[in-house]
Amino acid sequence: MTGTTVAPPGTAVNPLREGLRLEQTPPPCTMVIFGVTGDLTHRKLMPSLYELAVDVPLPANFSVVGFARRDWDDEQFRQEMSDAVHKGIKGEVDAAAWQNFAQRLNYVSSNFDDPEGYRRLGELLDRIDAERNIGGNRIFYLATPPSFYPVIVRHLREAGLARRFVPGEPERGWTRLVIEKPFGHDLPSSQALNNEIASAFAESQVYRIDHYLGKETVQNLLVFRFANEIFEPIWNRHYIDHVQMTVAEAIGIEGRGQFYEEAGALRDIVQNHMLQLLSLIAMEPPSSITEKTVRDEKVQVLQAIAPPRGRTAAAGVVRGQYGPGWADGRAVPGYRQEQGAAPDSPVETYVALKLGIDNFRWAGVPFYLRTGKRLPQRATEIAVQFNRVPHLLFTRAGTMRPEPNLLILRIQPDEGITLRFAAKVPGAGMQIRSVNMDFFYGTSFLAKGPDDYARLLLDCMLGDATLFARRDEVETAWAICNGIMDHWAAAPDPDFPNYEAGTWGPPESDALIERDGRRWRRL
Ligand code: BG6
Repeated sequence: MTGTTVAPPGTAVNPLREGLRLEQTPPPCTMVIFGVTGDLTHRKLMPSLYELAVDVPLPANFSVVGFARRDWDDEQFRQEMSDAVHKGIKGEVDAAAWQNFAQRLNYVSSNFDDPEGYRRLGELLDRIDAERNIGGNRIFYLATPPSFYPVIVRHLREAGLARRFVPGEPERGWTRLVIEKPFGHDLPSSQALNNEIASAFAESQVYRIDHYLGKETVQNLLVFRFANEIFEPIWNRHYIDHVQMTVAEAIGIEGRGQFYEEAGALRDIVQNHMLQLLSLIAMEPPSSITEKTVRDEKVQVLQAIAPPRGRTAAAGVVRGQYGPGWADGRAVPGYRQEQGAAPDSPVETYVALKLGIDNFRWAGVPFYLRTGKRLPQRATEIAVQFNRVPHLLFTRAGTMRPEPNLLILRIQPDEGITLRFAAKVPGAGMQIRSVNMDFFYGTSFLAKGPDDYARLLLDCMLGDATLFARRDEVETAWAICNGIMDHWAAAPDPDFPNYEAGTWGPPESDALIERDGRRWRRL
């Protein structure tokens, strides 16, 4: 994780964020964004880069080169990015700061498979290096549809732009590659993609973005677990009955039918965001917070999960797809009626599954995961349910059996943590009721941290890959999902739709957990 260097003299720290996180200013670099005309750049990357430029601040010579097929020039690129920043940031855009930033935006118009485009890109980067004294530091960000990833990587290699890192050899500035999920479609395609990347870049140059890892609340999982003495001793099978993880979304597929038909909830959310959350919640304490130690421990968790396949996939995994229903008080179509979705699509918009972690800490503790689109509300949380008390003292007639303790880590929205414990209801009798002890980020800290993309972009510039997924993590996560996907592919087509938009998923999902004598938390 980024170190704790105080901002160098002369660099302004945004007073709103002072005290929240000590800032580090990254070295100068040029970020080349492939597919810069697309949605991701407009919604996330450019607003985040602008905010970093204003807040951190980035070095005055930080530069961006857009690379895409559209026939734009520098001026049009700057105008489009200005619109994106005006739309994408929460506060006002500072006109002078934008002007200053915009001067360092350049554009290359080219097809992704045209060697001539990469030659022109190379020339432009050399010119920017010389004119703006960048020192040769470059980040290549792949924000294109995933089918272009191998093509771009190959061309970068062939054009001599990848500059593979070889330990011991002097570097003429560093080169890093950032790629967006999905990292492949299944285990074999992920391995093929990683092999292609490895032919051009060393693993230490590769930054695989999972934006969940950039969320403050997700990073706080590590602080919560390892900066407090009281939780770690009970963080194991002796005290914990089970863990429930929920990533619920109220939105549908938001016009991304074509993408979603190829993805589905298992690939879109479980393989990456949910398994990342699970590995953070279940990992052993690393010996230090470095990219190697943290990722080594996370991958150990994933390796200890027995991938559901065949009979275990049939019994331990439920899939669903929403039909027409209600969202925010208005009627919404079913998945099969969404633009880009096939009218008989078997793609799942909901998954619930039960996983076990076969190690000393977690043997016998089930982890229940559920995620879905068009559920009644947006909520991501991890609920850790502790065992019941071993002996009941309060057995007088009419006394309710105390509920087990519950720790709820709310990732979003209403970011915070709640601990539920039993308390005596005031009065002459001995009534017991569960009450909450609450922490809310919003009230304890007056300001928010940087948004997820800004945080991750900054870490990449600083050369800190702790919050990015390593090759072995990604491939192990695919291995967990692959057996499920194979099982589904071999099974008869599911009877979809099987839940109404605006409800908590198919009834089989309740049955999955109730079979074990437990219940999904009501959110
Ligand atoms: C993305 C998925 O990775 O995460 C989307 O592709 C999903 O389908 C999104 O909506 C959820 O992210 P967040 O940050 O809104 O929880």
